[in-house]
Amino acid sequence: MIEITRRAYFSASHRLHSPQLPDDQNCELYGCCNALHGHNYWVDVTLRGEVDPRTGMVMNLDHLNALIQREIISQVDHRNLNDVPMLKGRITTAETLAVQFWNALAPHLAEGLLCEVRVYETPENSAAYRGE
Ligand code: NI
Repeated sequence: MIEITRRAYFSASHRLHSPQLPDDQNCELYGCCNALHGHNYWVDVTLRGEVDPRTGMVMNLDHLNALIQREIISQVDHRNLNDVPMLKGRITTAETLAVQFWNALAPHLAEGLLCEVRVYETPENSAAYRGE
């Protein structure tokens, strides 16, 4: 089995705010992230599968990139994440983005092929989801 990864980039604003917590606790929990601000995000989408002996590839990474652009990047790039339909009503942490991006991609890939979606909010902070 081989893992292959395609990286894609987007820039977006968001505000971390839990409607289940009072304002003062939101401020304490999220700090400056409780106010509207932006990030230059990137997403690593990893597939795991067998190499097709005819092509030498698990999947054509250009095709994977087209899927990522269509299902994720076109929805979130230069948007306020709090207003994006796939994230509406959710707290727009990297954890939430990883899960929702997985859910956007999985129906378009062969069963079991999607291995991991990792969202980097900064070079230091990322969240990964493996469908579990
Ligand atoms: Ni933030």
